[in-house]
Amino acid sequence: MFQFTALPPLSLYIHFPWCVRKCPYCDFNSHAMRGEIPEDRYVDALLADLESDLPRVWGRPVRSIFLGGGTPSLFSPEAIERLLAGVRARVALVPEAEVTLEANPGTVETERFRGYRAAGVNRLSIGIQSFDPEQLRKLGRIHGRDEALAAAQAARSAGIDNFNLDLMFGLPQQTLDEALTDLRTALALHPAHLSVYQLTLEPNTLFHAQPPELPDEDVLAAMQEALQAELANAGFAQYEVSAYARTQGGASVAGRKSPGTAADRRCRHNLNYWQFGDYLGIGAGAHAKITDAGGITRLWKVKQPRDYLETAGTPAGLGGEQRPGRDDVAFEFMLNALRLTAGVPAGLFSERTGLDPSCLLKPLTRARSRGLLEPGFEHIRPTPLGRRFLNELVALFLPETR
Ligand SMILES: C[S@@+](CC[C@H](N)C(=O)[O-])C[C@H]1O[C@@H](n2cnc3c(N)ncnc32)[C@H](O)[C@@H]1O
Ligand code: SF4
Repeated sequence: MFQFTALPPLSLYIHFPWCVRKCPYCDFNSHAMRGEIPEDRYVDALLADLESDLPRVWGRPVRSIFLGGGTPSLFSPEAIERLLAGVRARVALVPEAEVTLEANPGTVETERFRGYRAAGVNRLSIGIQSFDPEQLRKLGRIHGRDEALAAAQAARSAGIDNFNLDLMFGLPQQTLDEALTDLRTALALHPAHLSVYQLTLEPNTLFHAQPPELPDEDVLAAMQEALQAELANAGFAQYEVSAYARTQGGASVAGRKSPGTAADRRCRHNLNYWQFGDYLGIGAGAHAKITDAGGITRLWKVKQPRDYLETAGTPAGLGGEQRPGRDDVAFEFMLNALRLTAGVPAGLFSERTGLDPSCLLKPLTRARSRGLLEPGFEHIRPTPLGRRFLNELVALFLPETR
């Protein structure tokens, strides 16, 4: 039913489920810490978890690692060192592997970053959100403007130039000027990469239950446009809905084949998700996608940190496992690929899904006739209109519409 010509590249995601406190907009699997974090036990659990996943990926090299959260930077450099050494002892990490760690301002300084770097971290993703003290307060962040600025400086002082800053826009009562000021402040810190997210009110969050007053649709559209223009002027190429990478000489990096180099700061790890690559996921609530000759397996680990600590590496540590059918696989591929500004080469569909490309013929033709996809059979690439109406474009590939 599925026929693969090659297995996709493999990444490793490692989840850290604790934060100093829970932000009111956040629906990630993150929990306010109570007392000390059980660092050693968690690292042991992660390594046991990885060990139990190994038979699924025997012999396959790992190309990137992402330590995400939660707040991984609450873990000491020593704990991260032991973890990464344990990972290297268990999987073949390619020598040029990108190793990203998410860090929150207010939990980091230069020495800590130096320690992470010595442990093997070569990319940082710093959750700034805003530099506006009033916004930071409304967002329930533990840091102020100064800590946000200091975190980026500390990354550079520690010798990690390859850092991303996360910003959000469309914040409570935010004006266009305020959003632009945040972006300009971020640009002045010379990050290699920027992730710029529109604040969304996620179910099961405090903001969903008690929504703050957000800018209206027109203001949001104007913000999006102004931020994109400012980023382009500053030499950042948008390669995904929310992701911008610094490019050398301002050239577009869209089609390049070597992300992660100094000339192309796209995030290799995230690109692998969007290009429907494989990934192991270890840690509380972490998800994985693994391809084998018979199809694709999705699996996830138990979510509650306490349960995870007790069961990681045993059958009880597995939250669930699923073999998606052809329709779901085809849709999931498109859902990811269409987020990319450059789209994907058409041949990637069969390579990554193991499916016959003819199953996309109808929706592709329909999307092209509506001007949502570029013409031509070599590439699947959204037009500017398709990017603007991404939800409509993606909906054309839903199993029931196909
Ligand atoms: C895994 S999260 C958290 C990373 C890190 N713990 C932090 O908060 O700084 C990664 C990013 O997702 C974004 N994010 C989280 N919740 C969001 C929401 N409701 N709407 C838009 N962006 C969100 C934030 O920019 C955040 O930095
Ligand atoms: S610090 Fe980050 S992961 Fe933690 S609750 Fe806030 S947004 Fe979520």
